[in-house]
Amino acid sequence: MFMDSIGVCIRLHTKIHNMGGDITMSSMTISNLKSAFGGESMAHMRYLAWGEFAAKEGFPNVGNLFIATAYAEQIHAHNHFRELKNEVGDADVTAGAGFGLTTTSENLQGAINGEKHEVDQMYPAFIAVAEMQGNKGALRSFNYAVEAEKTHITLFSAAKDAVDKGVDYDQNTVHVCTVCGHTLAGDLTDPCPVCKVGVNMFKTFVTEK
Ligand SMILES: [Fe+2]
Ligand SMILES: [Fe+2]
Repeated sequence: MFMDSIGVCIRLHTKIHNMGGDITMSSMTISNLKSAFGGESMAHMRYLAWGEFAAKEGFPNVGNLFIATAYAEQIHAHNHFRELKNEVGDADVTAGAGFGLTTTSENLQGAINGEKHEVDQMYPAFIAVAEMQGNKGALRSFNYAVEAEKTHITLFSAAKDAVDKGVDYDQNTVHVCTVCGHTLAGDLTDPCPVCKVGVNMFKTFVTEK
């Protein structure tokens, strides 16, 4: 039903654009890029806050994971911003945001919920619109983000399992691809599976002693 509505909007919008001979990026994708920029920017700041809190609560490796993941969200926000190119001017941005600073376990659950929303609902809808309208740059930026968010769900879930047992996350090293935001813990041996750049293009975060 939701996708049917998107399809109707896209067809209508495409028709309007074609009538005017406009081949620039669709207004729906421009709006989606702005919303995704808002969401990723806030996730970046939220993870920095939750990372600092985790370290203070006695989970320094969880803190490091949050800080590394905050950097991945920054990569996504920058990618989306760059795709907006000459869309100059102010805009009100509507984007989902989680709040709260209670326990590291709850913060991790909040992070998992946010990532799942992006993977299951937000980015698939944005990708469908960009794909149907042939907005290749936006499509790449959305695809990079959604693939990285999947890795964030896995990492945050492993960290939450540890914290709920009263111990720190067992990985003190996290790597983030500086091109697409792909994130992994432990050893870095292979090129990025998403955007294919080499290991030299990753930024590494290690828990401070
Ligand atoms: Fe994420
Ligand atoms: Fe990558």
